[in-house]
Amino acid sequence: MDRHIPVLLQESTEGLALKEGSVVFEGTVGLGGHSRVLCEKIGKSGLFIGTDADLESLKIAEERLKDLPCKKLFICDNFRNIDAVLKNAGAEKVDAILLDIGLSNRQLEVAPRGFSFMRDEPLLMTFRSSGDGLTAREIVNEWAEESIADIIYGYGEERYARRIARGIVEARNEKPIETSGQLAEIVKQSVPKRFGKINPATKTFQALRIAVNDELGALREGIAKGFEHLAPGGRMAVISFHSLEDRIVKEFFRQKKEEGIATLFAKKPIVPDNAEIKENPKSRSAKLRIIIKN
Ligand SMILES: C[S@@+](CC[C@H](N)C(=O)[O-])C[C@H]1O[C@@H](n2cnc3c(N)ncnc32)[C@H](O)[C@@H]1O
Repeated sequence: MDRHIPVLLQESTEGLALKEGSVVFEGTVGLGGHSRVLCEKIGKSGLFIGTDADLESLKIAEERLKDLPCKKLFICDNFRNIDAVLKNAGAEKVDAILLDIGLSNRQLEVAPRGFSFMRDEPLLMTFRSSGDGLTAREIVNEWAEESIADIIYGYGEERYARRIARGIVEARNEKPIETSGQLAEIVKQSVPKRFGKINPATKTFQALRIAVNDELGALREGIAKGFEHLAPGGRMAVISFHSLEDRIVKEFFRQKKEEGIATLFAKKPIVPDNAEIKENPKSRSAKLRIIIKN
């Protein structure tokens, strides 16, 4: 289903303090859930510049938002290139930036790109719908065992990383690992039997996805460049979904505050309330942080 329930929708869009005529950059348009509210807030005289690495999602969002009157630019690009995107758009400074990182439900459940261990799909894990560049297939079939283990440990915080990497290498010596289903089974066979709700492949899949898309590198670059392009009084909101990402955002925001060039919207991250978690359990790990440029 091409549906994605936007996370912390009210908190993030209100926290950006948009006005009629504001210029807003959204790096992760996805299916346009947040974009709709942002566009409504900036009205007819506002400018919305939205990027997503996934062209298919971006096209869906563009179609869904066509009734909104603000000026809209949809650009298929990585938000880490925000400087070039804004330059091309002729908008040096923006009033607000929103990043809702990670992947959408559509990418998890509809686009056959191997993000889910619940399905048997080609092992790509790219946000890009084009299929070029690094894929998870390349990592598991071609990288050294130690490098695979380092990724699974570093980005997945998986305690059985070395065993899983060994299992992957043994399996690929038999035949190439082509699908998400095959990989999920290899992980399951490599770790001690666990009880509980979490699938044993969860952390490995998360780690590969982060590596394939260089998610942490993109986040670091995107927020640093984004902050430079904020107008005085401008705000940047970032919604992240795991501790590695949140740590990067928290640290960067703290640094800007210490330099005396920014104010934090709130000391603690804003998290979904019980009602939101009940309606959308996937929101449970979300953390929102907002910074205001002085
Ligand atoms: C959680 S979804 C966004 C959902 C959106 N807020 C909505 O309500 O529909 C994250 C989106 O960000 C995109 N994305 C993640 N990292 C990206 C990056 N570095 N550059 C561009 N797009 C990225 C993904 O392709 C995905 O579509």
